[in-house]
Amino acid sequence: MGPRIQEFEAAYAELLGCKHAIALSSCTAALHLAYLAVGVGPGDEVVVPSMSFAATANAVLYCGGTPVFADIVGRDDLGLDVADAAERITDRTKAVCAMHYAGYPAAVDRLREMCDARGIALVEDAAHSPSAELGGRKLGTWGAAGCFSFFSNKVLSVGEGGLLATDDDDVAERVRSLRSHGMTSGTWDRHRGHAETYDVVALGFNYRMDEPRAALLLSRMRSLDGEIARRRAIVRGYRERLASVERLTIPYTDEAVERSSCYVMPTLLDETVDRREFRQELSARGIQTSILYPAIHEFTEYRRRYPDVALPRTEDAARTQVTLPLFPHMTESQLDRVCDAVTKLL
Ligand SMILES: Cc1ncc(COP(=O)(O)O)c(C=O)c1O
Repeated sequence: MGPRIQEFEAAYAELLGCKHAIALSSCTAALHLAYLAVGVGPGDEVVVPSMSFAATANAVLYCGGTPVFADIVGRDDLGLDVADAAERITDRTKAVCAMHYAGYPAAVDRLREMCDARGIALVEDAAHSPSAELGGRKLGTWGAAGCFSFFSNKVLSVGEGGLLATDDDDVAERVRSLRSHGMTSGTWDRHRGHAETYDVVALGFNYRMDEPRAALLLSRMRSLDGEIARRRAIVRGYRERLASVERLTIPYTDEAVERSSCYVMPTLLDETVDRREFRQELSARGIQTSILYPAIHEFTEYRRRYPDVALPRTEDAARTQVTLPLFPHMTESQLDRVCDAVTKLL
């Protein structure tokens, strides 16, 4: 954690327009530290989406808390439903976590109001959404903490890596301390012989990022907005070409695309389509697809812990979702090839 980390953190804080950007080893680490920093501990609850990657909920369990799953808006918007989230708040709720699915803003403006009114923290899982925004404000800066991922398949990728953004000095101080074992001196100070010894003042972790990764991220950041512009153009191309295909829902609006980081191209099939067969047929034509996401509450580990959770809209999306290829250097002819195959199959 030397000068390149500092440079990267300053550049990312400027990109987001926030006070503190703290580089970490992963977004999972960021979520863990975000929940700890807003005070989640044993007996506390955090309202989370089930239509997300497991880390969103796992990190609540790391703190000894209980993830309470809320449903999504529906097939046109896979973000957290504000009314459903509000209904799940109890006197044990410490925080609500919103995830910006595929880079499209969840309703963090309304969630923020709701959380403020009830005196609980809003955490953003912004793993998909670097440089995306809502109402001119970057995603990841709406709540007490925004958590970003730089994993290989992400919009801004470096292998493994993450970051926590916050405007709250207390959250920042706690996260900086906990990312490096709660030690009173940093690795860079000790490396330069500026710190003779150190104390450990809290139970922390090794959630540090390293210099080579920060250097790579700094370099990758220069092309971020250009790559996002390219991603949006490809998504516009998908939306035009697939608009009239039957038995297929393309979530979100044309307008939302212009605020999104367009991490992936989500679609939802009608219940009448055999998803496995559809994906196999695409695969046979050299077109890779994926499923974002299997619902967290339906995983074996979560069913074992919370057998009674039922989220009809999340379950519908988890059953029917298919993600089509999307990457900044995707060509028009590749786009045509995917869209022709999808149209023909459906
Ligand atoms: C929504 C979401 N949250 C959290 C994570 C975890 O990120 P990381 O792999 O950086 O720990 C991911 C990525 O895998 C993700 O997609």
